[in-house]
Amino acid sequence: MEESTNFVNGYDRISPEDDESSAVPRQSPSSNRRRTVPVIITLGLFTVIIGAIIGALVVHLPPKKPSESHRSFRHRAAESIKAVCAVTKHPESCFAEVCSVDFGDVIDPEMIFNLTLRLAASEVANVSSLPKTLISKSSDLRTGSALRDCVSLFDDALSQLSWSVELMRVGPGDGEKVLTEEKVADLKTWISAAMTDQETCVEGLEEMGSTDVDEVKVRVQRSSEYMSNSLAILSNMEEILDWFGLHLH
Ligand SMILES: *[C@@H]1O[C@H](CO)[C@@H](O)[C@H](O)[C@H]1NC(C)=O
Ligand SMILES: *[C@@H]1O[C@H](CO)[C@@H](O)[C@H](O)[C@H]1NC(C)=O
Repeated sequence: MEESTNFVNGYDRISPEDDESSAVPRQSPSSNRRRTVPVIITLGLFTVIIGAIIGALVVHLPPKKPSESHRSFRHRAAESIKAVCAVTKHPESCFAEVCSVDFGDVIDPEMIFNLTLRLAASEVANVSSLPKTLISKSSDLRTGSALRDCVSLFDDALSQLSWSVELMRVGPGDGEKVLTEEKVADLKTWISAAMTDQETCVEGLEEMGSTDVDEVKVRVQRSSEYMSNSLAILSNMEEILDWFGLHLH
């Protein structure tokens, strides 16, 4: 703004007075200060911004080598997960799946169980729409009735898993112990019921000689593996907690 005003004044300079009026402020100390102050502010801001960027980079760049305590946490977490997953029928997949989840800085048996349960629930949710999709493609009446049974069986399985996930959801600071003997019993009942639902569906399709049975079996396999992992951990929960110096309430 100041620049353009000076520029215009330069052209309009007719009288010495005008010349004077535009020249004098330029020479005055106050004008010098006015020009110096923005430069200082700009330089200062520039330094602050560069400093902040460097600071942010330093803070957010992950250290090249994880600190000793972090490495030992990851190591201990992996050992814990391995120990818990060892009680399942599919220890490798249990370990791989739990490790693939970002579980933060704390890991205990309840959390490991919680992770396997959430994986199971999302698999059950994933397959629950399958019978409906197959019904829309099928023209065989006998298969159709078996598939309709599967729709309600899979809906039930999904409910059982949803109740289980809800039971494990404990708000921060409400002081409630997550796992009690009663809760472990409920969780076992619901997860077993969901597994039975899926098996019943597969058996029904087999009885009808349905050509869809193979696809359903494949899709059910993963969720049933996750549920079986969760169940095995629950069944051994007291012993597992004991390894961690913890116990059921
Ligand atoms: C659901 O299952 C299908 C088929 O197995 C798979 O391709 C897809 O990735 C799954 N989706 C989720 C969200 O797990
Ligand atoms: C289990 O997972 C849910 C969903 O992430 C979470 O809200 C809950 O606090 C977890 N419970 C435990 C015991 O880790």
